[in-house]
Amino acid sequence: MKSRIIVTGANGRLGAALVREWRAAGLEVTGFGRNELDISKGDAIAARLDAEDFAVLVNCAAQTNVDRCETEQEEAFELNAAAPTILADVCNRKGARMIHISTDYVFDGAKEGAYTEEDAALPISIYGASKRAGESGVLTASEGRGLVVRVSWVFGPDRPSFVDQIVKNALEKEEVAAIADKIAVPTYTLDAARLLKPFLFENEAGGILHLCNGGSCTWQEYGQWALDCAAAAGAPLKARTVAPLRMADLKAFIAKRPPNTAMSTARLTSLTGQTPRDWREAVSEYLGRQCVVGSGQ
Ligand SMILES: NC(=O)c1ccc[n+]([C@@H]2O[C@H](COP(=O)([O-])OP(=O)(O)OC[C@H]3O[C@@H](n4cnc5c(N)ncnc54)[C@H](OP(=O)(O)O)[C@@H]3O)[C@@H](O)[C@H]2O)c1
Repeated sequence: MKSRIIVTGANGRLGAALVREWRAAGLEVTGFGRNELDISKGDAIAARLDAEDFAVLVNCAAQTNVDRCETEQEEAFELNAAAPTILADVCNRKGARMIHISTDYVFDGAKEGAYTEEDAALPISIYGASKRAGESGVLTASEGRGLVVRVSWVFGPDRPSFVDQIVKNALEKEEVAAIADKIAVPTYTLDAARLLKPFLFENEAGGILHLCNGGSCTWQEYGQWALDCAAAAGAPLKARTVAPLRMADLKAFIAKRPPNTAMSTARLTSLTGQTPRDWREAVSEYLGRQCVVGSGQ
């Protein structure tokens, strides 16, 4: 029986972690970076994959620069909508399972409380709209059998993110600040690898699935916790407190960001019995693992 897994976007923050963690768990995983599979080359995607034998394809490749998507709209839809749809179509033809990674930015962020998979996706940015179009394309092309996995605020050892940046800033500067009027849930890539693993072969659920750590926080709370963990680990921080900013103050933002995109993982728990651990525990473990906290990232 075929058991090979292909992960696209394999040099990215999430893709690299999935490849490493699943290999470590004994699975047969091939990572495709941009050099092995350029998803902007629409016509060539099918031909490239038709030559491969695989049972599952996990698509982590995407245009993830939210502001760039506003100015490069065609590229955003090509990478985030057209390409995943082609990938799902190839998988469908080959009888392979398609797992596509999407985002909390498909929501407008106006809800109070956590979003479920049943809530309406009403994106307020080109990034969100292109990712939403990718979700629909994948679900249609896979005839409902594909799985669209929405993650949020991804962090982990393979590519720096907010948590690394805030610690780095606090090591270098007397004052640091982060947005206090935007709420979401961090997703630790190592936890994502564990939580997603049952969906490769054992659980054939299709549709949309929310996958992130437990709880929720503002960017300011996320940053404060990171600094508290770094300080506890002995990092010589110049700043110990994260001051609040408002989204409206950040003039560098081009795209609109949804104010609240906390997601409920109740479906994940009901399908697998797994309950993601709280985001604080995951951040604390991550910063502990990094040893030299905030090292150059
Ligand atoms: N980061 C977050 O906080 C976040 C939040 C919600 C959802 N997500 C979703 O999670 C998924 C993984 O994102 P990530 O955090 O791992 O971001 P990432 O580090 O930016 O990874 C995206 C990967 O896509 C690759 N890529 C871009 N254009 C490509 C192309 N034309 N052909 C092939 N590969 C291409 C990039 O390649 P290079 O390495 O060559 O640049 C990169 O490795 C994405 O679907 C994203 O929308 C992320």
